[in-house]
Formats: sequence, structure tokens, C-alpha cells
Amino acid sequence: MKDVKISDSVIYVGVDDKTIDLFESQYVVPNGVSYNSYIIKDEKIVLMDTVDKRATDEWLENINKVLGEEKIDYLVVSHLEPDHAYNIKLICEKYPNMIVVGNKKTFDMFPQFFDTDIENRKLVVSEGETLNVGTHTLQFFMAPMVHWPEVMVTYEQSEKILFSADGFGKFGALDTDEDWTCEARRYYINIVGKYGAQVQQLLKKAATLDIKMICPLHGPILKENLEFYINKYDIWSSYRPEDDGVLIAYNSIHGNTEKAVKKLAEILEEKGAKKVVLSDLARDDMAETIEDAFRYDKMIVASPTYDAGLFPYMEKFLRHLKHKNYQNRKVGIIENGSWAPMAGKLMNELIGSLKDITICNPVITIKSTMNDETIKQFEELADNILK
Ligand code: FEO
Repeated sequence: MKDVKISDSVIYVGVDDKTIDLFESQYVVPNGVSYNSYIIKDEKIVLMDTVDKRATDEWLENINKVLGEEKIDYLVVSHLEPDHAYNIKLICEKYPNMIVVGNKKTFDMFPQFFDTDIENRKLVVSEGETLNVGTHTLQFFMAPMVHWPEVMVTYEQSEKILFSADGFGKFGALDTDEDWTCEARRYYINIVGKYGAQVQQLLKKAATLDIKMICPLHGPILKENLEFYINKYDIWSSYRPEDDGVLIAYNSIHGNTEKAVKKLAEILEEKGAKKVVLSDLARDDMAETIEDAFRYDKMIVASPTYDAGLFPYMEKFLRHLKHKNYQNRKVGIIENGSWAPMAGKLMNELIGSLKDITICNPVITIKSTMNDETIKQFEELADNILK
């Protein structure tokens, strides 16, 4: 069992998963992911969430090590997504007197996942309600769409711990030694990014609580400098750029567009860009590129025309940005087309449909390979986007 110290009475029973190929069947997680689950030991024993089916055996062993013959009195269901809820049926069978704690939406959705009859053993809680389990008191706050409609977070009043569901989560197993911000940002933007307004609502509720520790459902327990993490969430969920920099997201079929954007990157740097990041949409991790799009205040997209349309990876990228509510940024557009270029028009339409986007002039057309005129236009675009 992972040696994760929370407190004498709040014990970590979660599991690291380092063999999963894709989280949510789409995100690469080179350092795995953790499914966090916690036990609160008091006059009553509370289990905070279960874990993914991939982690069942180790999780049961962890619970057994902590509880032995003792029985769980309450299971709090923060979130019904199967990476946390898969083992509800099993744990209900193992502890037949255990009460399942959730909100109305939890129990409305419950039968979609489980055929377990919990009618006589469910406790429906609503906003601000408390559950006393001895010296500990759990208070529940609804967090709809952070990341599903039934999500709720739990504040434990005596130790001032916020059990934050997916909020403040991060990719990466718990024993991974890596920067929190990068993988927490990639996690947040890609998984919860669409629901900034709802995260802002939750942050407003959190601001009324005296929080000493945050226990999320993925990633490390946050114990110090909580303002840092809360501030990051405030930036991300309000769609404010985090850093001054330019993401150049491009596709290149035979290397000509790539050569051109590398030249553009040089020009941007010469003109004082603080940071320029190049991302090949066909080869680099799309989730990381989406993360960078949100991180920086400026983005330039460059794509060849393909089948009289947009190169498929660019199309996918821009559609992802729309899904995630990308907004409030400066954007430059470069198309390449050896005959009948269309990519610029299509990128313009997709980007133009986003909120508060400033498209910087000139929109540039490269005909196969860059030339002196292209470089002149790059200079102009660089001046305008850096203004
Ligand atoms: Fe980690 Fe939305 O589940």
C-alpha cells in the first residue's frame, strides 16, 4: 500500500495504475494515473469513493490492511464515473449494512450503472448538509459538471480537508516525481476545460471554507501552499491566458510548412516573443497541444489544404478547442496549398466561431514553399500578434 500520510484518522487506500494505455480511452499517461480512495476512521467508518476496475484487488487489500474485521458504515460517492465508482456493487455486497451517501442526481443515475438494490440503504444529501461520524463531520457541496452532473465534493470540518472529486486532480501515479502544474493542466483542460463556469461556481463555494488540505480523486494530496493550486484553477476556469507566449500548431505533409513555421518561430523570437512552442499536430500529443493553446495568450495555426479541405489533424485540433471552450486569445492563420488553397478559409471559419478571438493580419497563404514574400508577411504577422 502507498505510504501517503494524510492524518491519523484519514487513511489513503487508493491505487496507482501504471499499465493503462489511454486514460478515458484517449489520453496518454506516460507516468500512469492514480485512483484515490480514502478511509475516515471514527466512531463510524467512512469510505470516500471506490476505484477503477483495473485496481480492484489492490484496493481491497488496502482496505483490508486498514480495517481488518471492522466494517464500513458509509460509502460517500463523489462521482459515478467508473474510474471511481466501478467497485460500488462489490463493496455494497461485501458490507451489506453500509449506507451509500450521494445526492439526488447520484441516485437518479445509479441504476444506469448498477443493478444493486440500495433503496433501503441510501442517504440522499443536498447542498451544505452535514453528516456527523464522531469527531469528524462531513459537509457536502454540489459540484455539477465538474466533471459530471452528479459530482459533489466533501469538506471534513474538524481536519479542514476538502475531498475535491476530479477537481485538483492530475495525471501521473503518486510515486511519480514530476511538476504538478504541467500534468494537472493537461488533465484539467482536456477533461474539465469545457466547464469553466461550473468550476468558477465551485471555487466560490470553496472560498467560504477554511481548507488545510485537498484530497482529489487523482494525483497527489495537496497540503501546502494551497493558494497556488486554487489560483491555477481560477486562471484555467476563467479562460485567462496563464503565460505570455506563442503556440505554433501546424501540420506539414512533406516538410515545407514545417520549414516555414520554424522560420516564423525564429522571427517571433528575434522580435521579442517570450516563448515560442512548436507542435506538430500529427506527431505530438494532441492533449498537450490543447493544454498549450490554453496556457499561452497567442496561437498561430498553419495547415496544408488536403482533399480540398483542412488537413485532418488540424480539423481535429480546432474541433477539440471548440469543445473545450477555447476563447480570449490572439490567433494567426497560415495556409499552404499548391493549388486551390482552402485551409485558410476553413480555419478562419472554425476559429471565427469561438468567443473573443482576435485574428491577426495578415492571413498568410504559402504556395507550396515559402519565399521572400512569405517572410515579409511573417514579419508583419509577428509584429501584429506580439503587439
Ligand atoms: Fe476521474 Fe470524471 O472521473
